[in-house]
Amino acid sequence: MNGFAPAAEAAHACPLIATTAETLPALLAELGDSALRWAQAQGFTGAAGATLLLPAENGAFGAVLVGVSQRSDPWALAGLPLSLPEGVYALDARGLQLERAAALTGWGLGSYQFNRYRKPVRPAARLALDIGDPTLAEAAALLRASLLTRDLVNTPTEHMGPEQLENTVRTLAQAQGARFSSIAGDALISDNFPAIHAVGRASHREPRLIELNWGDPSHPRLAIVGKGVCFDTGGLDMKPADGMRHMKKDMGGAAHAIALAQAIMSLQLPVHLQLLIPAVENAIAANAYRPGEVIRTRAGFSVEIDNTDAEGRIVLCDALTYAAEGKPDLIMDFATLTGAARIALGPDLPALFTNRDDLASDYLAAGEAQSDPLWRMPLWRPYFSYLKSGIADFANAGPSRMAGCITAALYLDRFVDAGRPWTHVDVYSWNDSDRPGRPAGGEAQGLRAAYTFLEQRYRR
Ligand code: BES
Ligand code: ZN
Ligand code: ZN
Repeated sequence: MNGFAPAAEAAHACPLIATTAETLPALLAELGDSALRWAQAQGFTGAAGATLLLPAENGAFGAVLVGVSQRSDPWALAGLPLSLPEGVYALDARGLQLERAAALTGWGLGSYQFNRYRKPVRPAARLALDIGDPTLAEAAALLRASLLTRDLVNTPTEHMGPEQLENTVRTLAQAQGARFSSIAGDALISDNFPAIHAVGRASHREPRLIELNWGDPSHPRLAIVGKGVCFDTGGLDMKPADGMRHMKKDMGGAAHAIALAQAIMSLQLPVHLQLLIPAVENAIAANAYRPGEVIRTRAGFSVEIDNTDAEGRIVLCDALTYAAEGKPDLIMDFATLTGAARIALGPDLPALFTNRDDLASDYLAAGEAQSDPLWRMPLWRPYFSYLKSGIADFANAGPSRMAGCITAALYLDRFVDAGRPWTHVDVYSWNDSDRPGRPAGGEAQGLRAAYTFLEQRYRR
């Protein structure tokens, strides 16, 4: 994995010494007078995120001090791999003992660059750490999952259409000994996925429902569904240029779902996993679905298309219906579903909806433990009236933009049988600008939280 060196290289690596503001005086006393004077001259206070390069007596590069908030802070080191001089670094016994899993997570996320179309801007500094250590297996798998999410989202639509998403899942299935299948094009009609077909039929790239099944059928069945809209033009109710600019990321939910499935399989979580990705392009052509049309869904509900830009819920509803048919113990879905979620909670806090309070508290607690937060939003039933239709069972959107992420979630809720445990995460999947460990572009959000939540539900 990029950004790491074998643990054996620690012996001749540059020491990386973590400190908090509180532990700094004792650390500097230990490091000696010249370190103390240098820290004072540089105004280094040990504040979280601050770094201080310490020269050795001969003027060579001696050590790095880094301010952290706490031992379990995964962001403590995230800014270092692409800002420190190239070379190998090793966590030092002096100073604060960072949790190695947190260090691995932060260093790994901070080493990421999307290199498909150009050379790395610079090589990442490397941390000497045994990432194959069994005690770090979970952190390493979750790091890999986050990096996979970023790569999938960052890849432009021409190279990450429905077919490429399918190839990604097929390759994953082969690597993990899982069963793979896909229903594409007109077969969606004959196999009764009419809503997925309606959204995807205008693209020259066939819409599809991608499926992976893995695990022991005697284990609890877990269905994971991800919105795979490989590009969202908005359809005939077209998005303006600003709103369309980043819509290659509208398969961010699929990316999260695929990455979560990868982590579950590689860490052998005892579940019977079903991964479902409805993959389409919401394109414009003569045969595009239109506002005012009434479409059928797999569940049997008729849906009036109020706005072709509310396409995610339409492809998801057939996949959710199909997931529920397997009577799983839990259904989880991930989707870049609404702009409203981002307006409500901002870009960094995914919106969690669930029909079960116990799932909400466990999920949120897992997010807190992993420094990977989500925020719960309500399935406020009265707002379902916003989706009223004069001619169909209900509409996919309505005249009001109020509570847009709630009405979207309530739409999905209609397709999950009442009482079946279900979580829905409306996730932005994107960093608008560069921050340490969070480069501009595709991002995994709430992914470590989701896995930890599952780990607690199914392993303990
Ligand atoms: N993919 C978008 C939602 C989106 C936009 C997520 C920007 C993240 C950033 C989705 O398909 C959409 O366009 N939703 C509409 C629904 C509306 C027409 C009811 C929205 O949120 O405006
Ligand atoms: Zn849309
Ligand atoms: Zn969309």
